[in-house]
Amino acid sequence: MTRKSCIVLPDDYKGYDVDYFCVPHHYEDSLDSILIPSGLIQDRIEQLARDIAVELGKEPFAVLCVLKGGYKFLADLLEKIKQYYRFSSENSVPFSVYFIRLQNYEDNHSTGKVKVMRVDGLSFLQNKNVLVVEDIVDTGKTMQVLLEILEKKQPKSIKVASLLVKRTSSSSGFQPDYVGFEIPDRFIVGYALDYNEYFRDLNHVCVISEHGKQKYSNHSN
Ligand code: HPA
Ligand code: MG
Repeated sequence: MTRKSCIVLPDDYKGYDVDYFCVPHHYEDSLDSILIPSGLIQDRIEQLARDIAVELGKEPFAVLCVLKGGYKFLADLLEKIKQYYRFSSENSVPFSVYFIRLQNYEDNHSTGKVKVMRVDGLSFLQNKNVLVVEDIVDTGKTMQVLLEILEKKQPKSIKVASLLVKRTSSSSGFQPDYVGFEIPDRFIVGYALDYNEYFRDLNHVCVISEHGKQKYSNHSN
């Protein structure tokens, strides 16, 4: 799959000091830096929404949100696609929305096993144009497992939109069709990305600190 170009944050990119932007007080001691401030996330999603609306806007499509991390990207992306449709007579089509839940992380480690917990059944996929919405593609293995499951239901087409792609040596090579930012190989939180369910209530994408990992670890007392 080829993808459009995206914003690439280089390996030596430091982001912003936490003092420059507002973060919830309870996370101030748990972050090393702000990698992507929320305003920039929103501006980038506006362009992704336009790319998607122009390319998918010929036939109705089904949006499949990968929970839990995808919920904020889904909400903001759909809002911006709707905004675009309000002013576009050529590319305006209805879309339906479905959810699936996958999980393979504990603390900051991939458990290696992808658990699929269905929220919606998948029979709706047959003959549909499907847009999968994901927060982050890390190794890409989760998405490959998901795509294998989805393809069995014989959709007409499948595209994948991921806000983030991590540059990692353990990548399976999978590339989404729409990507907001390519980021260095660091464990990040915020904008619905969690560490043991914390940090979803943080609007910026941030690098968690060692202290943050300990404070919110599942294994600490
Ligand atoms: N942070 C949170 N969740 C994730 C990450 C990450 O860096 N990579 C894959 N899932
Ligand atoms: Mg995810």
